[in-house]
Amino acid sequence: EKGGYDHFMLKEIYEQPQVIRDTFRGRLLSDQGLIKMAGIEDNLNKFINAKRIIIAACGTSWHAGLVAEYMIEEFARIPVEVEYASEFRYRNPIINADDVVIAISQSGETADTLAAIKLAKEKGAFVFGVCNVVGSSISRETHAGAYTHAGPEIGVASTKAFTTQITVLALIALRLAKAKGTMSQSDYLRNLIELELIPEKVQEALLENDKILEIAKIYKDAPNCLFLGRGFNFPVALEGALKLKEISYIHAEGYPAAEMKHGPIALIDENMPVIVIAPQQNHYDKVVSNIQEIKARSGKIIALVSKGDEQVKNLADHIIEMPNSTEALTSIIATIPLQLLSYHVAVLRGTNVDQPRNLAKSVTVE
Ligand code: M6R
Repeated sequence: EKGGYDHFMLKEIYEQPQVIRDTFRGRLLSDQGLIKMAGIEDNLNKFINAKRIIIAACGTSWHAGLVAEYMIEEFARIPVEVEYASEFRYRNPIINADDVVIAISQSGETADTLAAIKLAKEKGAFVFGVCNVVGSSISRETHAGAYTHAGPEIGVASTKAFTTQITVLALIALRLAKAKGTMSQSDYLRNLIELELIPEKVQEALLENDKILEIAKIYKDAPNCLFLGRGFNFPVALEGALKLKEISYIHAEGYPAAEMKHGPIALIDENMPVIVIAPQQNHYDKVVSNIQEIKARSGKIIALVSKGDEQVKNLADHIIEMPNSTEALTSIIATIPLQLLSYHVAVLRGTNVDQPRNLAKSVTVE
């Protein structure tokens, strides 16, 4: 059942090229420059006329929501707010009939997310679901939706659900951008073509596995760990930290790299591993200066870099290479090494990787 892998989590990490492809198959028609998703087409006016999109989710799905916020705002220029479902449901939020609420959930059974949906519906909002489990409570409770095609996710730590959520949300953001005319045709087409290449690029990122195992051996006993990223990779840093804490029980924090100066930098000394997501893109120079600041305080730097990067290589203690994509879609690729790193650290520490202590696969009580 684990298909020759030691754990479901590892199997699910390696399934990502396939399930990402399954998720865009039939929806992404890059040669025609089209995106076709029934749930969006049928409700296109609601999205286009939305004054605001509110995303409600928990855990890893909330991180996917943050990536979606950046994509929808940049591509389609619609204001987005991302809410923890548990906070949203209890704080008497302002919801109007011209708001669109997107609920994201792998299981489709998360109690807080379900309650947030019910509240949004009561207030007259249109509610769209992004779920993995077909026929789940959330998929039934929402007005419309789009499934991720990740297949069953058994490991408690979410992996393939996250990258397929980003895939669906990228399709939505691009479709809305096209409808609103907010993105240049060349940027739009480039993202379509790059999305189609993501499965092979994820496959390429997986080739760093042996190197990541060696890095895991060096840092497996660290009591703390920081994850830093900027832009679309800030949510990826949060997700990397969540993955490490949940399966290895190492205390980890994710931050936008520039926030380091506002507090976390005080933690950095020669015992602190800092994982920095540093692809050669928009924020590259800024991230390089963040890396220099860490180095000046003797922090141990593990950097995720674009293939062939030389500058960061000279500064970091370890580099993990990955292929480049568009700024937005690199978030999918950068997730892969972080999943593998947590996995190996957890295995080396002898924890129950697929069934970490105190956690359940779906949180059906609040
Ligand atoms: O099924 P959902 O996506 O609604 O679940 C949300 C969270 O409970 C879930 O992502 C949790 O944080 C995972 N264990 C993270 O790996």
